[in-house]
Amino acid sequence: MKSLKPKILRFESLPSTNTELARQASEGAGEGLSILAEEQTAGRGRLQRAWSSPRGAGLYFSILLQPAIAVDQWPLITFAAALAVGDALSEACDVSTDIKWPNDLLSGERKICGILAESVETPTGRAVIVGIGINLTAGAYPPEIANVAISVGEASGRAPERETLLAALLRALARWYSLLHEVDGPEKIVAAWTSRSSYASGKSVQVTNGDEVWQGITRGVERDGALRLETAEGVKLVRAGDVSLRSAN
Ligand code: BTN
Repeated sequence: MKSLKPKILRFESLPSTNTELARQASEGAGEGLSILAEEQTAGRGRLQRAWSSPRGAGLYFSILLQPAIAVDQWPLITFAAALAVGDALSEACDVSTDIKWPNDLLSGERKICGILAESVETPTGRAVIVGIGINLTAGAYPPEIANVAISVGEASGRAPERETLLAALLRALARWYSLLHEVDGPEKIVAAWTSRSSYASGKSVQVTNGDEVWQGITRGVERDGALRLETAEGVKLVRAGDVSLRSAN
């Protein structure tokens, strides 16, 4: 059994918790080292986007993992992280969530959490940094994206307790990460992810990956986390890109 023992370093302000953790990992930091910042001045999101990170408005957290699973299954680490965030939001804040492929947490179709996983070379081999950003209050995101973003405070109707949420997140991460290393663990992670994602199957979506745009109906996920998309040209396997709901016309 692989057990995760997070050790948290807290910072007032950082450009990005992922960047700082990558630096420490390249200098030999071990699995479980976690970084939490009150604010990020250059928070990063998927697909080279910025992640707005004002002081005290969000939970900005990164953890270093060295999974002992086949590299082609590493995408499941972010599935496990999404499941852990879902558990933590439910347990600590009474907020239920949906998952949009691959790992956006939504509340009422609006994004409440984003996850950025980045691999890094360390003196003891390749590792992955999982960065998690949770909107705690509406101040976390720019007002112009209020139609697609939401915070824990808005979703739950009460002030979020960051430390309670963080403690629940650490417990849930340890649980799902340990399951990932069990025999049949990857299949169980995919099954749990599928059961919690309305996007996994039967959803009419558009997938944008660079210049490529595909439209189709989702048809479940592969063993390695790739999204199956049934398009007019046949079934495509989506391993990168942005999924959005297709408009009705
Ligand atoms: C996304 O695009 O949805 C992923 C957003 C990930 C944001 C988090 S906040 C903590 C960590 N540090 C970063 O710079 N990004 C991640």
